[in-house]
This record gives sequence, C-alpha cells and structure tokens, in this order.
Amino acid sequence: MPQILKQYNLKHLNTFGIEAYCDNYAEIHSFEEFKQLMATKEYTTSKKLILGGGSNLLFVSDFKGLVIRNCLKGISLVKAYDDEILVKAAAGENWHGFVMWCIQQGYAGLENLSLIPGCVGASPMQNIGAYGVEIKDVFEELEACHMSTGELRVFSKNECHFGYRESVFKREFKEVYFITSVTFRLSKLEKLNTSYGAISLELEKMGVKKAGIKDVSEAVIHIRQSKLPDPKQMGNAGSFFKNPEVSAEQYAALKARYPELVAYALENGNFKLAAGWLIEQCGLKGLEMNGAAVHDKQALVLVNKGKCSGKDIYELSEHVLNVVNDVFGVRLEREVNIIG
Ligand code: FAD
Ligand code: EPU
Repeated sequence: MPQILKQYNLKHLNTFGIEAYCDNYAEIHSFEEFKQLMATKEYTTSKKLILGGGSNLLFVSDFKGLVIRNCLKGISLVKAYDDEILVKAAAGENWHGFVMWCIQQGYAGLENLSLIPGCVGASPMQNIGAYGVEIKDVFEELEACHMSTGELRVFSKNECHFGYRESVFKREFKEVYFITSVTFRLSKLEKLNTSYGAISLELEKMGVKKAGIKDVSEAVIHIRQSKLPDPKQMGNAGSFFKNPEVSAEQYAALKARYPELVAYALENGNFKLAAGWLIEQCGLKGLEMNGAAVHDKQALVLVNKGKCSGKDIYELSEHVLNVVNDVFGVRLEREVNIIG
C-alpha cells in the first residue's frame, strides 16, 4: 500500500523550483500500488495530478488534492523484425536515461531527443520534439489507465491525435488517463536525421566524418547545453510558449514590416514563427519582474532567478503575451501546463 504524505512540499519535484504544497502525496512503483491508491478516500474524494519529472508544469498555487508521483520502471523488447524493433518503456523511466539505453543497444530513432528532461510517460502528452524529430515519428502505441474506472486501454498513434506539442492527452483526455507505458518502433539500421542545420554544423565542429547515432546524440547534447539553462542552476521548464502558427497572409504582412522575421513554411501553407525572436524584438530578453525573468540567452525560456513564486512566473508570462500581441498582433500560447 503506498504511503500517503500530508502537506507535502513539491519544490524539489518541479524544475522551476517553485515552493508549492499538496494536500496529499503518494509515490507508486507498480500498477498494483496504483490500484490500491485508487481505493483510498484521498483518491476518491479529491482532484489528482500525475507527476513525472515536473519539467513541464508551473504551480501557481498550492495543489488542493492528491499528487501521484509515477515511479513505474522497466524496459522490455516487445518484438524484433529484420530492421526494426519494438521497445516498451514504463512511464516512470527517465526519458534521457531511456534514450541513452536505446543508443547503447544500437536502436536508432530517439537520438535527436537526447537530454530532454522528464519521464517517458509524459512524452506523448505534448508529443515532445527537438532538432527535427517528434515522438510521433517513432511512436507505436501506449497503454493508459482510466483514472476513474481503472480500466486499461491501448492507444494507437492515430488515437493520440499528435500535433505540434499536442495530443489528445493535453485536450479531452487531460487528467482522464494515466499513461503507464509507451512502446516505440525503433530502427536497427543507422538511419540518421541531421536535417536540422545546427546538427550538421556541430558534427563538423566535433570533427566527425561519418556520424552514427551516438555522434548525433552528442551533437544534440552540446547544442542544448549551449542554449538552454540547466534547471539545477536556474529553475525553468524549457520553452514557456509554443512557436505560433500564422496564415500565409499574416506572414506576408509581418515579413513586409519586419524583413528579419524568423519563420518556417509549413506543409499546410501556414508559417510557424520563432516566438523567441518575437519576444527578443520586443526588448523583453533579460527582463526581470519579482525574481522571474525572460532568459537572457533564449527568450522563449522563463526562469526563476531564485525565490520567485509560480504566480510571479505566470504574471511575467502574461506581460510577455500582451507585449508580443500589441507589437506583432500575434497571440502566443503557453506550452507549460499551469497547475493550481
Ligand atoms: P511533468 O512536468 O511531470 O508533467 C507534465 C504534464 O503531463 C502534467 O500535466 C502531468 O500531469 C502530465 N503527465 C505526466 N506524466 C503523465 C502520465 N504518465 N500520464 C498522464 N499524464 C501525465 N520539451 C520538448 O518537447 N522538447 C524539448 O526540447 C524540451 N526541452 C526542455 C528543456 C528543459 C531545460 C526543460 C526543463 C524542459 C524541456 N521540455 C522540452 C519540456 C519537458 O521536458 C517535456 O515536456 C517532458 O516530456 C515533461 O516530462 P515530465 O515527466 O517532467 O512531465
Ligand atoms: N531566437 C531569437 N532569440 C531568442 C531565441 C530564439 O531570435 O532569444 C530565434 C533564432 O533565430 C533561432 C530561432 O529563434 O534561430 C529558433 O530558436 P531555437 O533553435 O533555439 O529553437 P526554438 O524555436 O526557440 C524549439 C523548441 C524547443 C526545441 C528546439 C530545438 C518549441 C516551443 N520549442 O525552440 O523545445 O528544443 O526548438 O528543436 O517548439 C521545449 O519544448 O521546451 C523546448 C525547449
């Protein structure tokens, strides 16, 4: 039976390092423990939050409910084909640890997603992505438990409705399903994705002539370490906002006014704008308000300079949203999950 702790401080369990208390806190190490927890009055009578690595959420107040820390562990091979392999990871496995394990086995597909913080179970939530790859590209299926009925269900890729930093679990099934494991379809061949310019440049800098998956992973790790603040040094949750999508007309109008605009053409004819560029052009890079700041190297990242509250970060994000909207007429959307 999992132990239930009262008035638990979550400061060390969120990468913003925000002090927030929850009424009840429990860790689950097996599905049986989750079932036992489901039968408790703390579970049945209050709202619940599944917590992975706490790297994509912001507590704006104490959490009046039960926080369930997912500690389900285990990696297994489901099926091997000539060139491909299905690998299943339990939701509480550390994401980067899992990526490193796959690289060690020679399984290709996840190397561009090296060093993303958090757990495997949260990866489908927002279809994590970086350096030209999203998990939808290697996703096979996931298993999830209905949080009211306890029923287990398998979701295929189509059923997850993956999009840019989107899935069904961030929308209609938010707080409805607990993802317990994810299965990935990886390649036994050294199929590389170095389409993202920065990777090829970094491989060149590293002096790599014929790259393998380990080299790509190392290149990605170098790039990330040079750009993104380490949460251990300065609290943050990666990109706070999504890169906004605008129509071709809006893009053309903005480009005429701002020839330096950074944007990428999408297959649907729309354009994705670099939100970091928009924020920087508004003169907000480095702005500090009550200990919350726009990171001075990457404007898309908001940071806790030490002792700010979740509300301080939220208010700064509101300010950024308003200024960018006033200047460019573009409404940014938060990527980080706001809790409280
Ligand atoms: P948490 O923050 O614990 O949870 C996030 C949300 O998912 C919450 O709403 C939670 O309730 C829900 N959730 C968590 N686990 C489950 C589960 N098992 N079942 C159901 N719901 C669940 N993201 C990217 O996509 N690309 C990046 O390049 C990237 N870089 C980052 C860099 C830094 C420095 C940081 C701090 C974050 C970065 N992120 C990035 C964001 C973050 O790492 C990912 O979103 C990650 O998948 C979050 O995992 P987590 O376990 O920490 O989730
Ligand atoms: N830029 C600026 N100023 C800034 C930041 C960025 O002008 O302060 C411009 C630069 O021109 C740069 C462009 O924006 O070329 C894009 O910047 P970067 O390559 O750093 O990527 P990003 O769009 O800011 C996205 C993801 C990251 C992911 C990287 C690499 C989103 C919201 N963010 O960032 O994901 O790691 O690309 O693929 O899509 C996350 O989701 O938490 C995250 C870190």
